[in-house]
Amino acid sequence: MPDRTPYIAANWKMNKTVAEAAEFVDALLPRIAATQCDVVLCPSFIALNEVVERRRGTAVRVAAQNMHEAESGAFTGEISAAMLVELDVEAVVLGHSERRQYFGETDEALARKVPAALAAGLEPILCVGESAEARAGGETETVLERQLQADLAGVEPADLAGVVIAYEPIWAIGTGATATPEQAQDACAFIRDVVGMRGAAADRIRILYGGSVKAANAAELLSKPDVDGALVGGAALDPEEFAGIVEAAG
Ligand code: 13P
Repeated sequence: MPDRTPYIAANWKMNKTVAEAAEFVDALLPRIAATQCDVVLCPSFIALNEVVERRRGTAVRVAAQNMHEAESGAFTGEISAAMLVELDVEAVVLGHSERRQYFGETDEALARKVPAALAAGLEPILCVGESAEARAGGETETVLERQLQADLAGVEPADLAGVVIAYEPIWAIGTGATATPEQAQDACAFIRDVVGMRGAAADRIRILYGGSVKAANAAELLSKPDVDGALVGGAALDPEEFAGIVEAAG
């Protein structure tokens, strides 16, 4: 069994002002001082700098929630990889289902964004996941495979281990309807097989589960062999609750 460091990420979505983000970091750091996990905070763009500065000297890492694939140009309202790197941001969430659903993020755009992030030295956290209808229709694996093949098409096999993949079934996001540990395991194992078929060092790639993770259910989900961590939304807004999830990861 390869050693994959557990990876616990807090996706704050459109929550927390700069002042609230600062307060969270100050409350979180003493609670997770002993963790061996990779802990990643994903604040809004405007709170990135504050979070980066407050966590300096700790192992906590910082990710943006989106980026544009171009180096620069006439893309009003967008943020480039270089702008994130300049702030010492280390990672970026790409392809979250909310961006796919509400902001028209396409697999074609993701096929450009993932390699652009890697080229800039940012760790992509690529989100994939099926809808309730797809699961009910037995299409879960078809959807996951299609998203992975499309979104990772521009990544060299040797670079795939540098991508973190988050399995986030849409029906489990913000609903309280957490996937069962078995459902999470099956999907994460399938994702590992798909990236393995692309020639990746599949036993090195980290695959997270996301969707109504909380401190009370984290240990069971994370006990599954192919679930290497969690991408947490609502429960990551409270430092005590998020610290409980980090603790559950070991
Ligand atoms: P919840 O944890 O609120 O279900 O959100 C999951 C998510 O979308 C993380 O990216």
